[in-house]
This record gives sequence, C-alpha cells and structure tokens, in this order.
Amino acid sequence: MSTKRVLVTGGLGFIGSHTVVALQNEGFEVVIIDNLSNSSIDVLGGITQITGKTPEFENIDLREKAAVKNFFDKYPDIEDVIHFAASKAVGESVTNPLLYYENNLSTLVYLLHELNKKENSKFIFSSSCTVYGQADNLPITENAPVKKAESPYGNTKQIGEEIIQDTCKVNKSFKAISLRYFNPVGAHPTAEIGELPIGTPQNLIPFITQTAIGKRKELSVFGDDYPTKDGTAVRDYIHVMDLAEAHVHALKRLMNANEKDNYEVFNLGTGKGNSVLEVINSFEKVSGEKLPYKIVGRREGDITAAYADTTKANKELKWEANRSLDEALKSAWKWQLVVKKAEEEEN
Ligand code: WQD
Repeated sequence: MSTKRVLVTGGLGFIGSHTVVALQNEGFEVVIIDNLSNSSIDVLGGITQITGKTPEFENIDLREKAAVKNFFDKYPDIEDVIHFAASKAVGESVTNPLLYYENNLSTLVYLLHELNKKENSKFIFSSSCTVYGQADNLPITENAPVKKAESPYGNTKQIGEEIIQDTCKVNKSFKAISLRYFNPVGAHPTAEIGELPIGTPQNLIPFITQTAIGKRKELSVFGDDYPTKDGTAVRDYIHVMDLAEAHVHALKRLMNANEKDNYEVFNLGTGKGNSVLEVINSFEKVSGEKLPYKIVGRREGDITAAYADTTKANKELKWEANRSLDEALKSAWKWQLVVKKAEEEEN
C-alpha cells in the first residue's frame, strides 16, 4: 500500500483513466494533469464512482513550459510519473505533423527536465507497437527492430523513446520504462468509464460499437486480401483493464527493483492475434447484434499482422493479460449503450 502521490498525465483519457482506477485500487494517491483537449471532466466522476476516491486534478497544457515547472513547485513530493498525454490519431498526424511533434515531444522534454531535478524520479512512457511497423517475425519481441515510422504519430513514439533512453544514459538515478501497447480495447466492467472518441472513430472497436448502436451506417473492413487466415488484417486486442494493471506492475518494478538497466521496454499484448472478421464475429456473439459491414480497399499505412510476444512482460513485470476478446468486446458494447443513453438524456 503506497500513499506516495503518482502523477498521471492524460489521466482523463481512455487508457489513462483506467490506469488511475488500477492505481487507486492498489492504494496509490493519484494526481491527474489533463488539458481536456481529447477527454471530458465527467471522467473524474466516473473514476470516483468506481473507486470512491476522487484524484486531484490540474487542468494544465503540458506545452506550457512554465506551467509544467509550476506544477512540480506545487507538488514537490511527486517523483513518479505515468505519461499518457499525447495526440494519437494516426491519420491526423499525417495532415498536421507539427501539432504532433509539438504536443507529443515538447511536453515530454518539459516533464523530463523537471524530473531530472529530482533525486529518485521514475517515469513510465505510453508507447506503441506501431514502432515495429510490419515486424519480420511474429509474435513480436522487444528485440524486434524499430522500423521507419509510417506516420508522424508513430515517429513521435520512436523519438520519445529515444529521448527517454538518452536521458537515462546520463542520469543513472532516473529510471524509466516504455510500454509498447498493442491494441487497447474495451471498457471498465462497470461502464462508468470507457473510450470516448471525438468525431468519427478511427479505431476498429469504437466504430463497430457505434455502427451497432445505429450511429454509423455500416463498418468498412479495410481489405480482405491480406495473407492471413481470412484475408483481413490481424491485431493483438488487449483489454484496457489488463493494460491498466500492467502500468501498476511497471511502477512497482521501478519503485522496488534495482535493475542493472535504468531503462527498459516491454510489449503489452495478449500474445494472440485476431483478424477483423474474427472481431466482428466475436462482437456479434457477445452483443447479439448483427453488424452491417462491407469489404473495401486497404487503408494506407496499415500492416498485415501484429501480435505480441509477452514472455518478457510476463516474467519481469509478473503480469499477464487474462481477459478475453469476448470480455473486452462485451465491455465495449455495455459502455456504448451507456453513452447512447446519456446522449439521449442530454438531447
Ligand atoms: C485495427 C484493424 C484496420 C477501422 C492504431 C495505431 C496504434 C494505436 C491503435 C493509438 C486494422 C481495421 C479499422 C475500421 C477496419 N494508436 N479497421 N475498419 O491501426 O492497428 O493501430 O490504433 O492508440 O498505435 O497504430 O488500430 O483500430 O485503427 O485498426 O477494418 O473502420 O482494424 O485496418 O486492421 P491499428 P485500428
């Protein structure tokens, strides 16, 4: 049980809010920084509903260097940070790269600058399997080569990891872990929090649930001519609560262990790959809804297949994903029904 306060940036976002719940469940005190650019203040109430504890919240834009410094002046005890705050839409990053380089990298530098003034700071970075591109071998281990990014978004994850690694090289008292997420999906089982995409969802699962609820006409399946079991692309869909709990394990590793390396990388996935058609079948089974979809051409930049080799995370983090795809899709559907009801009550 720890009462040390942990800073979670982007803590009102999809993965951030679920991680705050997991941290509070483990007895951590959490302070959230979020600028509400891609999240809602209502998420704070959702977290409180689940855990009975309201995290401290600061509405700060991490692009404001002075605001970052003022935060750490106000919270001098905080030396442990889990950093989610970033822009994450692959397509948007292609059309607006400077927004991504500023929002995802200058903010990281300002945070690291403040943490490096402290004796014993620890940092967890929200990275992505996108750094691997189309890996040559499956499942993907942490030793797989990082390939040239397909998008500025992916590039900010690669550069972000390098910035952290270089910082760890010169400051041995600074310990950091990059967590490379595969495909986070689902919602907390209470449906008090979940994914809240703004506008047309880019990701598969929110598009599926919005189609099933009638908000979208039909799902476009981007390609069925891939060299996979059924021709549609394969991904490793990990329940967001499994992912959230992995962050707690990673933080405990940074707090307790004295590894020889003060910088480590872990893949976070289930170790299983599912095709788009398999996801559709699973969703129809758990929701009882027939999903209208059509096969269209491939989406630019998509890879054929990616799923994690989870050996290192299982062993070193003493963590494994134990929730099924069915469970994740069922929680996503339950959350979508709650969102629809709330929208109807608002109108
Ligand atoms: C999954 C599969 C699509 C939508 C990206 C980023 C990753 C992370 C998650 C931020 C693919 C197919 C999708 C649709 C479809 N980013 N699809 N119709 O592209 O694997 O990963 O989002 O957190 O870093 O790279 O996820 O959900 O967009 O797509 O057929 O309407 O579903 O082609 O095969 P992706 P995704």
